[in-house]
Amino acid sequence: MMPYTVYESPEELARDFAACVAAVFRDKPNGVLGTATGSSPLEVYRVLGRLVEIGAVSLKNVRTFQLDEYVGLPVGHEQSYRTFIEENLVALTDLNSANVAVPNPHLVGDPGIATLDDAAAAYDLDIKAAGGVDFQILGIGSDGHIAFNEPGTPLDSRTHVADLAPQTIADNARFFGGDQSQVPTQCITQGLGTIMEARAIGLIAMGENKAQAVYDMIHGPVSPDCPASVLQNHPDVRVYLDAGAAKLL
Ligand code: F6R
Repeated sequence: MMPYTVYESPEELARDFAACVAAVFRDKPNGVLGTATGSSPLEVYRVLGRLVEIGAVSLKNVRTFQLDEYVGLPVGHEQSYRTFIEENLVALTDLNSANVAVPNPHLVGDPGIATLDDAAAAYDLDIKAAGGVDFQILGIGSDGHIAFNEPGTPLDSRTHVADLAPQTIADNARFFGGDQSQVPTQCITQGLGTIMEARAIGLIAMGENKAQAVYDMIHGPVSPDCPASVLQNHPDVRVYLDAGAAKLL
């Protein structure tokens, strides 16, 4: 069964999670970190910042690959995932912006990148060329999505262009002034097969609205109906939960 731990506070969860990330990059200072956006990893990024500050780890030579990015937001938009990673991780650590990769819909038109599909395929190749992800940070959607792999996504999918599910648009409207019509409807996302190639994975889920997805991920059949269930097949994954998210376990 997928190993999981239930924490009493988000701070305690983040401390444990960040300590695990720091250990990976103390051992491999030029390794590759897989980043996630959303609310789940925010406290982890803050703790990582403190660990860098006290010299417990350095991310100076670490490269990062973000899981996903919206399509259709202008460069520099405050809700773009590039901006999120700059503000919530780069600004708090010694990570070098030049080492931070985020799927980039704006590459379309560059030599060899005629379409969004080309941009997605190039991103998948970039991850491979960097040697693959050493540690991947994940959150989970209330519908069981990881990255933007919504229910129905093939378990062996690669980085691709996808439509956001109505549930995800509703969930994310809080970042767009509560207005669902402002949430982009498309994204570029790492595929489930891409994510599964990370050497180690830590997934964070907090809040009762994640309880069913967490239950299905851990105890349900491995099925595209709950994309996160594919993680049952990963040899090195750990799940970090609060009491709400663990409610049905
Ligand atoms: C973020 C991502 C998403 C989120 C998920 C949970 O890059 O890929 O899958 O991890 O939607 O979001 P939060 O943490 O805001 O509940």
